[in-house]
Amino acid sequence: MRIGSVALAGNLTLAPMAAYTSWPFRRICRRFGAALATTEVVKARDLVRRIPATLHILDYQPDEHPIAGQIMSADPAEAAEAAAILNELGFDLVDLNCGCPKRRILTDGMGGALSESPEHTERIVAAMVARSKVPVTVKIRAGRYRGKVTAVELARRAAGAGAVAVCVHPRFAEGAATLPPDWTIIAQVKRAVSVPVIGNGGIHTALDVRRMFSETGCDGVAIAQAAVGKPWIFMQAEGLLRTGELPPVPPQETLRAILLEHYAGLTALHGERRGTIMMRKQSCHYAKALVNGKKFNLAVTKISSTADFLRAVEEYLGPAATPAS
Ligand SMILES: Cc1cc2nc3c(=O)[nH]c(=O)nc-3n(C[C@H](O)[C@H](O)[C@H](O)COP(=O)(O)O)c2cc1C
Repeated sequence: MRIGSVALAGNLTLAPMAAYTSWPFRRICRRFGAALATTEVVKARDLVRRIPATLHILDYQPDEHPIAGQIMSADPAEAAEAAAILNELGFDLVDLNCGCPKRRILTDGMGGALSESPEHTERIVAAMVARSKVPVTVKIRAGRYRGKVTAVELARRAAGAGAVAVCVHPRFAEGAATLPPDWTIIAQVKRAVSVPVIGNGGIHTALDVRRMFSETGCDGVAIAQAAVGKPWIFMQAEGLLRTGELPPVPPQETLRAILLEHYAGLTALHGERRGTIMMRKQSCHYAKALVNGKKFNLAVTKISSTADFLRAVEEYLGPAATPAS
């Protein structure tokens, strides 16, 4: 898949997830075949003020290119300035979040609130494109309010303003969080624009990835929650699409090595204490695929140091290795 001037090695991407898609997890997913990953969303306002915590969220590693940085904003000038800063920070793509459903974000006119106003979104995208040397993309919802689909209009206007790809998560920002995504909206957007359309939402297995391609005609598929605790879903989906056969889950030794790498990354990024606490949340997802996973996860809920983590790995998952840096 090609996104503007950026050629990707495949057509599967890791969708952004706040509190999950920091570089330790992104790198693991990239190695399993995600052709592109996006940072967690940051507010353009905070980026323009260069708030250290915001810059920290945008940390990435040299081997992560191509990488997309995601912002949210309700203001064209501010979004444009933030896009310029993402360029300065070395991002290969700049993505505008038009989907965040959090109440405070909607009240501020950002994220999913943009779906309500395609004309305003068009102005924001145009301003970003004018200030960005790298391609600008958008990630949109079906619409803001349940039943009021604006995705097609939004995608048309964003592409008209210079966005070079549209990622569509076809749920509404308000009032329908529990409903399944409506993939027919991805197909409608695909028919309406000539830029690549990346479908997203409701992928649980590699088989769903194949189904989304065939049912919607999308150019790429973005996976979010299904990659958490099973980043090998990218390898499985890629193998399934290429050969028609579903590759097996990697062996326990590989899973253990991934856990150790993920942990080492989180502690490098956040320090031992916070990284360890963050790993608790990750371990319960990995546990589902692990032999002894339940016992391992129970042990990890109580850990607070690297020594505790390595002990739990050694006790339940076999000999502990030194975490990779
Ligand atoms: C914990 C969590 C955090 C998320 N954070 C972001 C974000 O920062 N930016 C964004 O565009 N979408 C975010 N999303 C939405 C996902 O990218 C994706 O659109 C959604 O989860 C549907 O895809 P899935 O069914 O594969 O999970 C988040 C979703 C979750 C569950």
